[in-house]
Amino acid sequence: MDKIAELSLEGKTFRLPVVEGSEQERAIDISALRNDTGYITLDDGYANTGSCQSKVTFIDGEKGILRYRGIPIEELAEKSTFIEVAHLIIFGKLPTSAELRRFSDLLTDNELLNEAMKHHFEGFPTHAHPMAILSSMINAASCFYPELLDPDRKDTFVVQTARLLSQVRTIAAFAYRKSRGLPIIYPKPELKYTANFLHMMHSLPYRDYEIKPEAARALDLIFLLHADHEQNCSTATVRMVASSRANLFASAAAGVCALWGPLHGGANQAVLEMLERIHADGDDGSRFIAAAKDKNSGKRLMGFGHRVYKNYDPRAKIIKRTCDELLVKLNVSDPLLDIAKHLEEAALRDSYFVERKLYPNVDFYSGIIMRAIGIPIEMFTVIFAIGRMPGWIANYKEVMEAPTRIYRPRQVYTGPTLNAYVPLKERK
Ligand code: SDX
Repeated sequence: MDKIAELSLEGKTFRLPVVEGSEQERAIDISALRNDTGYITLDDGYANTGSCQSKVTFIDGEKGILRYRGIPIEELAEKSTFIEVAHLIIFGKLPTSAELRRFSDLLTDNELLNEAMKHHFEGFPTHAHPMAILSSMINAASCFYPELLDPDRKDTFVVQTARLLSQVRTIAAFAYRKSRGLPIIYPKPELKYTANFLHMMHSLPYRDYEIKPEAARALDLIFLLHADHEQNCSTATVRMVASSRANLFASAAAGVCALWGPLHGGANQAVLEMLERIHADGDDGSRFIAAAKDKNSGKRLMGFGHRVYKNYDPRAKIIKRTCDELLVKLNVSDPLLDIAKHLEEAALRDSYFVERKLYPNVDFYSGIIMRAIGIPIEMFTVIFAIGRMPGWIANYKEVMEAPTRIYRPRQVYTGPTLNAYVPLKERK
């Protein structure tokens, strides 16, 4: 029997259908609420509001569960690769060998930017933040492919996907090279996705970068762990833009802008800046933790807390372990890692964090890995964007395939009631 929720308002009882997901999550369908009752709902930050039904990623924040298309993140982290997971997230299935080969070849065939785009890079100041360049250049890239901008062209979706997934990496590497006054390095078709990115980031015209397998694997794992995360701020933004039937590149560029904020993807850069500041201040972390608990300090323990996880972020556990292993393999000791571990131990004993269920999230340790493999701090959020691209593409695809109405939330107006125009000479 269909479940029903009852709402009593002004002496009347309204019956609202209950929707149950495949993991027994339940939602009250309020699609008819305003028509039936004249009321809308209000939900600061959408903490209690489901914007859609999706088949891509499942998170259980209380149990610290994350699954892409039903497969646990722990298993994918151990056995899979970023490109195989990208196929799983976008097309809904792990690829066969032939499908994986075809997908990889498509990425290789689409890795070069149109040569004319080089001139756009010239126009950015060297200090331009690479997230600004990334969002601009994703839209700029689309100008060269007008045939891919029609969201109704299902036959070109795979090429749109391959071009965006492959070129976001090339754009990111070129942005970094330009910021350092270095010549851009073209991709090498014989290299796999992540190794090719490291090549474009660090090689020189006269000498190829020596790609350490453990560094490439660690970065591939970071991309994999960031690949999707249900309706986070940037993915919800991608769906919002897609709902107007804008093209995939425009929707992804909007996702980059939303991800940039320090409360979201920008947190990985903010964590390193926080750790560096604590280290420079000779603080063992206790002073900073005290400040993070003080609402008036304007400081937060970056990399801690999550809207959904009220338990340990499963990705943070994997990244912390990878961090330990990588630094041993690279024979690197990083004082910031020691500070991070001390902060975590201190916070998880502190009632302020325990009561608010604030645990390390995906951003707390990722920056230390990126630092160890030579990714500069201003590129950290760009790395997050490259990793999140499959999730944005998969959510864009769901919006285009479902009979989705344009996303247009309502509001409760609290401004001036009926007012009159005052001629300039009469204003005080
Ligand atoms: C990502 O949504 C996703 O899935 C995101 C993400 C993904 O993969 O897409 O997982 C990636 O964005 C991870 C989060 C990265 N951001 C940070 O690490 C920034 C620091 N964290 C916070 O700003 C915060 O925890 C958020 C933004 C992550 C979550 O914010 P919420 O859910 O709106 O929680 P809140 O701000 O309402 O905080 C609840 C309480 C408040 O205290 P009280 O008013 O109850 O007294 O907890 C406090 C907050 O002040 N709090 C923190 C804190 N995070 C929350 N206090 C100190 N340090 C923190 N980090």
